[in-house]
Amino acid sequence: MREGPLGMFDSGFGGLTVARAVIDLLPEEDIVYLGDTGRYPYGPRPLDEVARFAHQIAEELVERRGVKLLVVACNTAAAAALDSLRDRFEVPVIGVIEPGVTAMVRATVTGRVGVIGTVGTINSGAYQRAVEAESDDVDLVALACPGFVEFVERGEFDTEQVHVLAQRLLAPAREAKIDSLLLGCTHYPYLARTLIDVMGRDVVLVSSADETAFEVRRVLGELDLARPRAAALEGRPGVTTFITTGDVNWFEELGRRLLGPELDRAEQHSW
Ligand code: DGL
Repeated sequence: MREGPLGMFDSGFGGLTVARAVIDLLPEEDIVYLGDTGRYPYGPRPLDEVARFAHQIAEELVERRGVKLLVVACNTAAAAALDSLRDRFEVPVIGVIEPGVTAMVRATVTGRVGVIGTVGTINSGAYQRAVEAESDDVDLVALACPGFVEFVERGEFDTEQVHVLAQRLLAPAREAKIDSLLLGCTHYPYLARTLIDVMGRDVVLVSSADETAFEVRRVLGELDLARPRAAALEGRPGVTTFITTGDVNWFEELGRRLLGPELDRAEQHSW
């Protein structure tokens, strides 16, 4: 079991922010990453449909690819299906919502915080509940940002159009004078430059990627599932396999720009 890969999925490129953090923290681990680019975006879809997709992907990763742990590297899928995935599969299942909230509560000084995410995530109330469970000392502004994911999937991160949309969608967060903004969608770290321009340099952008990677390391350690580091790095460092349900050439081209050289090729998967 220790030699098995970690499984990770997202609607597309967003989960690569989490994959990058896990590769950097745990370079000895093998990873299988599935980007469901053929069916993105998840954000505007009904949550029960997103849950169905999440279970189908988890089945592929757990039952056919033999992953030893599953990371739901997509907030919308985590909001829709984290509990039901945990009920159904025997491997540990880690989401991105609680790790992000922990990091944000740690980052805020004034207690005025914001979270941005897809329509599905924000309307599910998952962040509102997670923040309430973590601390009674914070005032949360939760904003849906339809359109951001589509820009990222097209490889547009700081064009005039992204800027105009961000100005409009983030206006309530600026009015609330928040000091920390949690990126409650794994695609959003790629828009960081635009978000900082709009929010101002004093606002801390919090991404769940690093905190999720630390949680993966903690769970692997606790369950004695970690691949032994020294032997692995001397013999064979971890390998990441990338799978897309959409256009392979685009996944490889944009994915390499976003994640780095580890993404040299991707496999195609159809449902
Ligand atoms: N990265 C997904 C998330 O974290 C984006 C969902 C979408 O495809 O709209 O929510």
